[in-house]
Amino acid sequence: MSRTLIAGGRVIDPSQKLDRVTNLLIEDGRIAAYDVAPNGQDLTIDARGKIVAPGLIDMHVHLREPGREEDETIKTGTAAALAGGFTSIACMPNTEPPIDTQAQVEFVQHQAALAGHCNVYVVACVSKNREGKELAELGQLVQAGAVAFTDDGSPVYDAELMRRAFEYALMFDKPILNHAEVRELTSGGVMHEGLVSLLLGLSGMPAAAEDAMVSRDIVLAEATGGRIHIMHISSGGSVEVVRRAKRRAVRVTTEVCPHHFTLNDECLRSFDSNFKMSPPLRSASDVEACIAGLVDGTIDVICTDHAPHALEKKMQELDQAPFGIVGLETALGLVGTRLVQAGHLTWPQALEKMTINPARVLGIDKGTLAVGADADITIIDPDRRWTVDTSRFASKSSNSPFAGWVLTGRADTVIVGGKVKHQAERG
Ligand code: DOR
Repeated sequence: MSRTLIAGGRVIDPSQKLDRVTNLLIEDGRIAAYDVAPNGQDLTIDARGKIVAPGLIDMHVHLREPGREEDETIKTGTAAALAGGFTSIACMPNTEPPIDTQAQVEFVQHQAALAGHCNVYVVACVSKNREGKELAELGQLVQAGAVAFTDDGSPVYDAELMRRAFEYALMFDKPILNHAEVRELTSGGVMHEGLVSLLLGLSGMPAAAEDAMVSRDIVLAEATGGRIHIMHISSGGSVEVVRRAKRRAVRVTTEVCPHHFTLNDECLRSFDSNFKMSPPLRSASDVEACIAGLVDGTIDVICTDHAPHALEKKMQELDQAPFGIVGLETALGLVGTRLVQAGHLTWPQALEKMTINPARVLGIDKGTLAVGADADITIIDPDRRWTVDTSRFASKSSNSPFAGWVLTGRADTVIVGGKVKHQAERG
């Protein structure tokens, strides 16, 4: 029997409303007991001054494999997840070919097992080939292990298809994750539509494009009883639409990315394509609204939308460069700096949105340090100040707008199934 003691850390487990300094014992890959004294365990990890949290979960990651291995592979993407403190991730199906069959789901699972880094859950396509015309075989995809459905990168556009997707997914109690965007309003857009886009002469993507699709999705979820999860929310209007829907007990959840609670459209004045993503960086008041949504619980989840793109693609002119930024290795530091240190959320509140909440949305048995649970644990140094050095990313890509930023808070030790899988460099 292998036994590891994590000693003297501040154990924060929002799933149990636990926040106290204690010793945690892992036995054979599972959480075994609390308040255990050191007593000849095989390994003792000194966690004094650190936070011991359930392994972080990122429910929005693009691993790019199959098809775009020049940007990321399952091996490099899961290594980046570990470096960022994530023990479980959910990967998106906008690969080439898209993940819309059992065989594709199994391929990803197989590659993830070969990599042996973190847990990988597959989010499969809503529609065949992500074309938005015909529903994928949702039942078969569930059988293969898909935990949710999305055509991310694009919205599920056809309202009838979306209605039927809700009805089918409901049979398996799976959520539909939608990239909410009315395309007629965003087509050709490079950045958020507002004063800055006007001044820069760049074509804009109005917030109304997101708000209108979020509203449609909520109406359809309400009509069918289905579960809608709004991906990467970015506009104040959408946050308000979700807030009101939650009051009516619609089955809606939502997520926000660190860039959308940290940066705004002013950044585009640099014309740097590392500030180009979809949805775009919005106005300062939208950023405030996202933070308010995190604070009052309208926004359930913090995710990254980790979207690696090889340097040569991102180095094109702004209108040619693809949308998206890498996020796995900076998310925790941005949460620590922009939310916790800034006084918006406490660590327990922030960690709830990175552990048990995404686990509940995806219906996966993760995100808790309850006795008997898998020993997936992230030990966080909340005071660690570090500088983002993209050349040291484990990700294959380095398209981050946060290069050179000094952040506070970093994963120190990352444990998956009781095994130490990542240890931060000292100093
Ligand atoms: O910025 C983005 N990049 N947004 C998306 O929805 C897709 C993603 C990608 O796949 O690159």
